[in-house]
Amino acid sequence: MPDAGDEPALRKTIRQRLADTRSRTLAFLDAMQDEHLHGQPEPTMGVPAWDVGHIGCFEHRWLVDELGGEEVEPELLALFDPIEHPRSERGGIEIGSREELLGFLADVRSASLARLEETQLDGSQRLTRDGFVHDMVVRHEDQHRETVLATLQMFGGSDTEPYELPDPRELPEASRDVDGMVEVPETTFTLGAQPQVGTYDAEWPVQEVDLDAFAIDRAPVTNAEFLAFVEDGGYDDPEHWSEDGWMIREALDREHPKYWTHTGEGWRVRRYDRTQPLPPEEPVVHVSYYEAEAYANWAGKRLPTEAEWEAAAGVDPDTGTKHRFPWGEEAWTAGKANLGQRSGRPAPVGAYPEGVSPAGCHQMVGDVWEWTSTEFTGYPGFEAFPYPEYAAEHVDHGFQVLRGGSWATMPSCAHVTFRNWHQPDHQQIFAGFRCARDLA
Ligand code: AVJ
Ligand code: FE
Repeated sequence: MPDAGDEPALRKTIRQRLADTRSRTLAFLDAMQDEHLHGQPEPTMGVPAWDVGHIGCFEHRWLVDELGGEEVEPELLALFDPIEHPRSERGGIEIGSREELLGFLADVRSASLARLEETQLDGSQRLTRDGFVHDMVVRHEDQHRETVLATLQMFGGSDTEPYELPDPRELPEASRDVDGMVEVPETTFTLGAQPQVGTYDAEWPVQEVDLDAFAIDRAPVTNAEFLAFVEDGGYDDPEHWSEDGWMIREALDREHPKYWTHTGEGWRVRRYDRTQPLPPEEPVVHVSYYEAEAYANWAGKRLPTEAEWEAAAGVDPDTGTKHRFPWGEEAWTAGKANLGQRSGRPAPVGAYPEGVSPAGCHQMVGDVWEWTSTEFTGYPGFEAFPYPEYAAEHVDHGFQVLRGGSWATMPSCAHVTFRNWHQPDHQQIFAGFRCARDLA
């Protein structure tokens, strides 16, 4: 984004980014049947209509209310408050029709655009400096569309037709030899990000971290590799699993990643509107943290810590410099990583030689989120800004950190310091993993 030195240019960029994320949200809505829009496939997920309403509610809170604008429809605002309506209860609330939702989004948008013209972005206020809060609202909408995509993937195999992703993008098919591990030498580097536009409080403040030398997989674990674990009886041997992991595996009777099925024709996987033979070269996706951990134990490896992951993704071992993306500082383009919510699936390993990290790791960003062995806590000196419900209320609650972003992540949330977190038993997010190992 342009900085606050040129306020008209910055306002123009903000308007464009708000319009871009909204046009994609509207395209998703357009492609959604009413049964999906108002359906709740499983109690661990929300209702797409609620996410959409909540997108508007959040924009209202930050770009209208907090910035002193004109209030819009208070009843709808209360309906889409995430604290008042936790996911498990969203199936039961009257959300309103598609037309009402669209009307609400449009009313909020007019109010926020009107307010933008009156808002100083000159740096005198931390909230609005360089468009910080506007960027935050764009990224919030970007992130909720990923949640909607995970919810939509859950429908299917039941009485409703699966979702068809609008305007899909073709992926590079080429799989390259990216077997094995790279060695990252002992290093001291700066973990985290400076508190500025384009980052979240969970990434702040930066800290110096010492890492021992370690090895890390050049690519995410593939379906073929994960299948070897399944076929070796990996899901039947408690030896590979943590105590909590085994408890969940037993309680939920898990025997393979979510959306895999075994038929007379072998292993198949369902994604949205299609079921197809399991693609051996694609990163495994829809595994929980516990399954990732069990695989790593079985393979005689371990999961990387989030600091190891960040060093392998962003730090140049020769110079010690860390870049925003594995490929450097330049903005994402389609040839660099599978991001942007259009492909509908991970690409085969080795498909993005342009996106390789300085340490030599492929697909650190895009394709699948990667589970790390780090529990989600605040970095030393962490302070919530601008609101505690984003990260502060989730630290130290047993969530596990994921890094890197999936095909369903927008580039706005897929840089090397971005921290995602989820419950360790969840399979429905677009998560896979890669392994690491100590170097003695
Ligand atoms: C960072 C993806 C875990 O979806 O719960 C959206 C993002 N926070 N609205 C979530 C978020 C508030 C968050 N994750
Ligand atoms: Fe939200």
